[in-house]
Amino acid sequence: MAIYLDSAKLDEARQAKDLGWVHGVTTNPSLLAKAGVEPEVVLKELAVLEFHQVYYQLVSQNVEDMLIEARKAAEIVKTGLILKIAPTDNGFRFVAKHANEFPCCVTAVFNPAQALIAREAGARYVAVYVNRATKQMGDGLCLVRGLANVLAGSQTEILAASLKSTKEAVDAFLAGAQHITVPFDLLASLPIHPLSTQAVEQFNAEDFGIRLKP
Ligand code: G3P
Repeated sequence: MAIYLDSAKLDEARQAKDLGWVHGVTTNPSLLAKAGVEPEVVLKELAVLEFHQVYYQLVSQNVEDMLIEARKAAEIVKTGLILKIAPTDNGFRFVAKHANEFPCCVTAVFNPAQALIAREAGARYVAVYVNRATKQMGDGLCLVRGLANVLAGSQTEILAASLKSTKEAVDAFLAGAQHITVPFDLLASLPIHPLSTQAVEQFNAEDFGIRLKP
């Protein structure tokens, strides 16, 4: 189980790293475009932060160019790079051919058949857009359950993305996702519950524990 930041903004990545429990950062072309910094620079700075994993999505359209782009990304990130791959014919071709060299996450998966192909091709992850699926197909969590069923017993794990609330994030786990990736605001709000805040205020008011100074 791992929790990721879904962002390409470096200030958010630095704050996420500082939290101590964020496993990695997931990016995609839309998030990189919003970051306002060249993708190479973003990847270089993310590598400096030493997350366990950094996801980068290939934008090249044919397998040869995808391989060149993948090698460039690997030169920058060096360790912990996961390639996000769109579920196109060439995307699946790339995964089938290069998943041994590059751990791959087939992204924007919207039905179990795509997950089955990702599994057959050797993908380590499939990324599912939960909230988007709920909005456009009716029930994103049902989709997660379907993916979990077809991937049961395999090496391919589910990364739930497009999550908009703590409840949706937890429900994605309960539906069978092994990992979640969330935008920074949601990430920062995950540890917060008003009753916890209230309890902590009470504890702080007592302030009764081992004294640090004699
Ligand atoms: O990682 C995928 C995510 O960025 C998509 O989220 O909110 O555009 O559906 P959203």
